[in-house]
Amino acid sequence: MHGRAPELAVLFDALAAAQAGGTGIVMVEADSGLGKSRLLTERCQRAAASGCLVLAGQADPIERRVPLQAWRGVMAKLLGLDGPSTRDVPSSPPALPSLGPDLDIHASLLNAVLPLDLPDSPQTR
Ligand SMILES: Nc1ncnc2c1ncn2[C@@H]1O[C@H](COP(=O)(O)OP(=O)(O)O)[C@@H](O)[C@H]1O
Ligand SMILES: [Mg+2]
Repeated sequence: MHGRAPELAVLFDALAAAQAGGTGIVMVEADSGLGKSRLLTERCQRAAASGCLVLAGQADPIERRVPLQAWRGVMAKLLGLDGPSTRDVPSSPPALPSLGPDLDIHASLLNAVLPLDLPDSPQTR
């Protein structure tokens, strides 16, 4: 990849802040074809190589009426469901318990994001 040192530095700083416990958003804006995807791919590859968990979601104009669809890839990978298809997933993802003790009562909210059939809890009913 040619150039982009300043942009990579901004993304590196954001990653360092996240690794220090912070949160944040970096918006990358440019006209089509100017290198947004390439920049982010490069940064994500470097982050993954340094041991970071990189989760990516993608919005597709053809599915613009599907709620939360940009989160599908993120949640699928987090739950270990990012195989060739997220359509035929087990109704109870094996990775679910590792997300944290409070998650089980809210887990059925994932049914809106992924093709899961997790039972409602009193909190989500
Ligand atoms: N810094 C760069 N150095 C070399 N090639 C690049 C660079 N940025 C983008 N490209 C190439 O230009 C093309 C368009 O880039 P892309 O990231 O897909 O643009 P965008 O996502 O903004 O539409 C791709 O083939 C990509 O590999
Ligand atoms: Mg792009």
